[in-house]
Amino acid sequence: MTATAATGAARDLAAELARDLVLSLDPVESFRAAVGEPDPWQADLLRSADRQILIASGRQIGKSTCVGGLAVDQLNRPSRTVLLLSPSLRQSSELFDKVRHHHRKAGGPPITAESAARIETANGSRCLSLPSSEATVRGFSAVDLIVIDEAARVPDSLYAACRPMLAVSGGRLVALSTPHGKRGWFAEAWHSSATWKKIRIPSSECPRISAEFLQAEREALPRWVYNSEYRAIFEDAIASVFRAEEIAAAFESSAVAPLWLPGEPVELSPDPEEPGALWSEDETAAAWRRLIKG
Ligand SMILES: Nc1ncnc2c1ncn2[C@@H]1O[C@H](COP(=O)(O)OP(=O)(O)OP(=O)(O)O)[C@@H](O)[C@H]1O
Ligand SMILES: [Mg+2]
Repeated sequence: MTATAATGAARDLAAELARDLVLSLDPVESFRAAVGEPDPWQADLLRSADRQILIASGRQIGKSTCVGGLAVDQLNRPSRTVLLLSPSLRQSSELFDKVRHHHRKAGGPPITAESAARIETANGSRCLSLPSSEATVRGFSAVDLIVIDEAARVPDSLYAACRPMLAVSGGRLVALSTPHGKRGWFAEAWHSSATWKKIRIPSSECPRISAEFLQAEREALPRWVYNSEYRAIFEDAIASVFRAEEIAAAFESSAVAPLWLPGEPVELSPDPEEPGALWSEDETAAAWRRLIKG
């Protein structure tokens, strides 16, 4: 090899090492290499240091992809443990596939062991996709990142079993979901004042989802479904006739006025984007029929 060729090879090697270093240190650069340009909220999340994060969003805005990037960022660091949880093993596996794909495309520490639900990297880190079972989750400790995907459908007991795993490590918990009514730990955490970083993104804010698509979905779906699935609104439980606030008020005072009369419109969800959203007469009548049948 001539001196010029050797210098060129050394320069290429240095450039490659520098690129690897940037990818491993900056999760946004790694995301760019694996997925493309992050949306602004994705870039913020990838670089954030918050320990407890809730993401309530509409469908398909890129939340699993982004959180997969957070998992890869952990794999790029030494001796980290990442757990991926969701209501079913299939959903955890989908997220796991995103992590694997991201890691492969962006580069990073070589994989030393791999199975359908586990990656281990040469720097001693690992990422595991777990079934929705308390017994499995309880076996882990000193976890650096727990991701709970489709969190609104993950049982309270599983969530409770997760939290102690972060006690010693001071690790992060990131829970993401479309809302699924005002019930369960995810909705409670969202409405609590506890120290959660809360990120809400309706599908309309996603540059890859067109206004025409959303309009067609709005017309095709019952309003509460559209509101949950695309507007990230925590609707009252699907079958409930009374709003959660009204039930709460009923417990606080013995003198609660009748909520509405048959045939009168009833406010479904106070919503700044859709003020005065009312149930139609049909919806009100159906609610009354359910109430009377008990
Ligand atoms: N910044 C981005 N640039 C380009 N494509 C993206 C970006 N973020 C996500 N995507 C793509 O958008 C699609 C939806 O992403 P993803 O599955 O992460 O969304 P989601 O919000 O988790 O969806 P769901 O509500 O169905 O769980 C995927 O094909 C993903 O690759
Ligand atoms: Mg998802």
